[in-house]
Amino acid sequence: MKLCVSLDNPSRQENLELVKKLKDFDIWLKVGFRSYIRDGKEFLEELKAINPNFKIFLDLKLYDIPNTMADAAQEICKLPIDMFNVHASAGKNAMKTVMDRIKDVPNRPIVIAVTALTSFDDESFKYIYNENIEQKATKFAKDTFEAGMDGVVSSAFESLDIKKNTSNEFITLCPGIRPFGEDAGDQKRVADLTLAQDQLVDFIVVGRPIYKSDNPASVVQKILENI
Ligand code: C5P
Repeated sequence: MKLCVSLDNPSRQENLELVKKLKDFDIWLKVGFRSYIRDGKEFLEELKAINPNFKIFLDLKLYDIPNTMADAAQEICKLPIDMFNVHASAGKNAMKTVMDRIKDVPNRPIVIAVTALTSFDDESFKYIYNENIEQKATKFAKDTFEAGMDGVVSSAFESLDIKKNTSNEFITLCPGIRPFGEDAGDQKRVADLTLAQDQLVDFIVVGRPIYKSDNPASVVQKILENI
């Protein structure tokens, strides 16, 4: 299991200070909309300059018509990143088009798809998809697998089921992790390290328990010792 640290601080400076404190660890860094829109490619380069072994997950969740998604994916592959994502609800055809477009990229990044956003409850999910959230998330995972993508963003609670319905090698990347039972904040269903391990999660995404800590390096150290 790998640790992916969410860089969700409000400013570039705070994100860079956090990453400098974590420079000796074998970790992934998650860069989302806010920092990418504000700080761009240069920020990604700065992260790699702090430690070239850092792996970067660019969390932009592409969603558009197939050709536009493939165009964006092709551009993303020119960035210094190691993983990016799309929405599975864009459809199997869109995901296939993305994978087909970037199939010959040397060292192509890992590509995963969001199944169901964790902000949905049953009712709001049904309003859009007219289906039960768990069943539909598994269907989205199967579509993603069949489209040739590498894995999904899912809840840790669904990881094992997704692997059973696809393949053990199919990657699950799971936010909503509170490694040692820390405060859940706005997350609804949180999992600790033991649950994530039992569910064969490949990547845990951890934000606040690390960046809001007085000693982020010691939290990361403790997580790495336990996974
Ligand atoms: O602070 P916390 O550990 O809850 O951060 C989780 C990170 O994962 C945040 O960056 C959040 O946007 C992201 N995320 C999530 N649920 C999803 C997809 C992404 O919490 N379904």
